[in-house]
Amino acid sequence: MKDMYSPFVTSNFIVGRGSIKFISQLNKKRAVVIYDGRIMSDATKEQLLTLVSENGGECRFIADIRNEPYFSDIVKAADDMNEFNPDLIIAIGGGSVLDTAKAMHLFYEYPDMSVEDSLIPYNLPELGKKAIMVAIPTTSGTGSETTSAAVFIDHETKAKRLMLSNELIPAYAILDADFTDTLPKSVASHTGMDALTHALEASVCVTASPMVVSIAISAALDILENLKISVLGNEDEKLSAREACHVAASLSGVAITNSCAGLAHGFDQPGAYFDLPHGMVCGLLLPYTTAFASPHPSYAKLAKRLGLKGDSEKELCQNLVDYLVNFNKAIGIPLSFAEAGIDEEIFFDKLEDFATLAISAVATKLSPKIPSLEQAKELLKNAYYGNKPFISSEV
Ligand SMILES: [Fe+2]
Repeated sequence: MKDMYSPFVTSNFIVGRGSIKFISQLNKKRAVVIYDGRIMSDATKEQLLTLVSENGGECRFIADIRNEPYFSDIVKAADDMNEFNPDLIIAIGGGSVLDTAKAMHLFYEYPDMSVEDSLIPYNLPELGKKAIMVAIPTTSGTGSETTSAAVFIDHETKAKRLMLSNELIPAYAILDADFTDTLPKSVASHTGMDALTHALEASVCVTASPMVVSIAISAALDILENLKISVLGNEDEKLSAREACHVAASLSGVAITNSCAGLAHGFDQPGAYFDLPHGMVCGLLLPYTTAFASPHPSYAKLAKRLGLKGDSEKELCQNLVDYLVNFNKAIGIPLSFAEAGIDEEIFFDKLEDFATLAISAVATKLSPKIPSLEQAKELLKNAYYGNKPFISSEV
């Protein structure tokens, strides 16, 4: 039998409410903070200043990331960092803040690197010689605090550009759920569905190790058990549900870092084109992509652990697909692109392009079943109209 083994990489995790205080234990002298000024409170700013200065350190708030940055903004901020010469980079915010900080860290340590070279997958030099990065996610979805990826939008072409390297994995991920308590319901549901999609897709990825499958299924269960309460629960019950979702989202990030995302990520072309939230589109597509990749032992295992019935793997998977549709309905995820308000004519004008991009995505190629162009178009058409997702009978 062919050897099948793989390393397992992750950030160091610091977990629990109040865990932001860990910053002072790092004992660093020059910290820069990359953040989103719209959501960073004055109290958090003060707290960070205090935590860094406890050991005589200096702290500078260097980059306020409000919108998707241009690459030129990232390189410019890295120049500003060079002037301050930090030994600690603190990124606090949602996925795009964390992704931007990863790129700034790279260009700070390697100011002569070209943007094109930075985009060659798994080709980056060692990071961490000048500074270490600490990621503090304030949403529970992308898993960027522990992933090897940083996603950017090319403003000219609207295409997604991806930096990919294990060197980009932050040294520490601080999972302090205090930052998630004030998340609006829509952000909690969209980001939660992004995380659930990461977990389900990692669990069936062709490169997933048994460790990945185990973590992914456990994370999926935690999200399915807690996300509804996190979105719809009262203030008291929300606290523990949001904390559980925060941890599970990071574990889902660990799972994709050590395997890959799958079909829903490959098919999220309409999201970027129509400016829909990534997590909402993942949730909308998930029943369709899960049905397409079924039957699969990991989906059947998850279905059984959810208490769903079925005499065969196919029946269990179909029940999981139906469960996902109802789950979407319960937390306000649209069940179709039509329901999401997307114009029918524009969608079908772009259908061929969306399907072509979807089947060429790496995430699609590493999924257990790879659709043909016709199957990809059919899947998107069904997702547009909200047709009931069925597992194909040709299995
Ligand atoms: Fe995602």
